Amino acid sequence: MNAAATQFGLRASVAAIVGVAVSGCDGVQSALSFDGSDAARITVLTIVMVVAATAIFLLVMTVLAFALWGSASARKRLASPSVVFAGGVVFPCVVLSALLGYGFAVMRTSTHGEPGALELSVVGEQWWWRVQYPDGRGGTFETANELVVPVGRPVRIALTTADVLHSFWVPAYAGKLDMVPGRTNYLTLTASSPGLVRGQCAEYCGGAHALMSLFVRALPPAEFATWREREAADAERAETGRQRRGATLFAGAGCGGCHTIRGTAANGLIGPDLTHLGSRHSLAAATLPNNAAAIARWIAHNETIKPGNLMPEYRVFSDADLHALADYLFALK
Ligand code: CUA
Repeated sequence: MNAAATQFGLRASVAAIVGVAVSGCDGVQSALSFDGSDAARITVLTIVMVVAATAIFLLVMTVLAFALWGSASARKRLASPSVVFAGGVVFPCVVLSALLGYGFAVMRTSTHGEPGALELSVVGEQWWWRVQYPDGRGGTFETANELVVPVGRPVRIALTTADVLHSFWVPAYAGKLDMVPGRTNYLTLTASSPGLVRGQCAEYCGGAHALMSLFVRALPPAEFATWREREAADAERAETGRQRRGATLFAGAGCGGCHTIRGTAANGLIGPDLTHLGSRHSLAAATLPNNAAAIARWIAHNETIKPGNLMPEYRVFSDADLHALADYLFALK
């Protein structure tokens, strides 16, 4: 290879690396494209820490350069006990204590409850999220794998786990917080504009940990109220003949032993609530897009999609039956 070709290859590699690195800074799941005041505070904290660390590093390297290559008098001054004490004890104690204090102050303000907050609870399970909402009339209802939040109103989320350690992380809105067995942790976030962002379980929780994600939709308050009203209601009845066939198959195959569809006999609590499955943005904790074909795939081949999950693969259905069942579930809006 000649020199020009080598240089071109080098430039192309650098451009590719920079491109990949920068593209990671944007999008639905980036800590650097924040949308809420809690995430904004963490971004400022990150900038302060990086700038401070860089300044300290440059200072230490400058002193080191003087110590190695400076004039005899400069080296003698650097070696005096008072300079060693000031640079080696006083400086790190003062600077690191100040940065630590600042970090604690940010952490305190970001996890405090706020008046008028919407109170939700999210339970981490291998490998999906159980979500409980107040229905606005004193009761609660359950959904899964997706949060819908009102813009401009703080949302206080009680985080627990049904099995192992998980960590709830929606980088656009807030820092990550662990879901610890036997304990409830509280996280407050506020979305400042409507939109759709993605979150991820941030603590290794078993084989399919990487497939434990979720979407968060922020809606203007009036749209949120409409969504909550509909979501709290029972499932609509199957309309078409095919959907009715699907409903019969759902009941007959015992799906209701693990899943709830409110308004029907299905009241299982082991798996995600499916009452309004069709209204969600994704399936299987943001692993698949939400459509009838993906639901059919999940029912018959879920162990290939998310190995080790608790649901058995149902390959007993004929193609026509499988699609009737998927149609029924996707029609649950
Ligand atoms: Cu749940 Cu990782």
